[in-house]
Amino acid sequence: MVQIAPSILSTDYADLGKAVKIADKGGADAIHIDIMDGHFVPNLTFGPKLVEDLSKITDLPLDVHLMVDNPREMIPKFSEAGADWVSIQIEATAHAHKDITMIKELGKKAGVVLNPATPIHMLNEIITEVDYVLIMSVNPGWGGQEFIETCYNKISQLNNWINGQKLDVKIEVDGGVKLENMERVVESGADILVMGSAIYNSKNPIETLGNIKRSIQKYNQK
Ligand code: DX5
Ligand code: ZN
Repeated sequence: MVQIAPSILSTDYADLGKAVKIADKGGADAIHIDIMDGHFVPNLTFGPKLVEDLSKITDLPLDVHLMVDNPREMIPKFSEAGADWVSIQIEATAHAHKDITMIKELGKKAGVVLNPATPIHMLNEIITEVDYVLIMSVNPGWGGQEFIETCYNKISQLNNWINGQKLDVKIEVDGGVKLENMERVVESGADILVMGSAIYNSKNPIETLGNIKRSIQKYNQK
């Protein structure tokens, strides 16, 4: 089942509720919310209150991507605020097993994120504990960047590993996913596509999201 998680990072922050309504109307499967602290990445975005406020206007799962230096402190704050999926950057913690356990004990789907240069073998001791792996296909910090081509191979290696071990772990891909490359991303093994600028910078975001959903339908018929 291939799912679409629109990222609100590239939208008009004066009207974030509108971005969520577009995702709802367009048939999105989740809302991707990028939390940046200005330390782990050189950009600053949202806090727990935004997650709380958005959780009141949509029933879609809130997919919170923590690009922060202190994930252990932030996990409970965003979980209590209403996050449904919480992912932490493996580069930001010395205690990934403990942090993933904390997310699951809070009743949330637990994800671990790999930056483009972080090899998948960093997941060796944690892959069986997570619900999903988020593969960064851009260097985190901004929307609207180009997909890093080496990530296709990284996604398929991870997909082969997961299938080989018969693990129930989803692959989410985040950054530079567009209408032009999304089928190749899915065929590499992605289950969840994060798409920000491809949707929200288009002329008609709801229509674009509808087109995206139609083009992945063939993967959801099996
Ligand atoms: C970048 C974020 C991505 C980004 C994706 O640090 O993690 O989620 O919003 O945006 P696009 O789809 O525009 O690359
Ligand atoms: Zn993200």
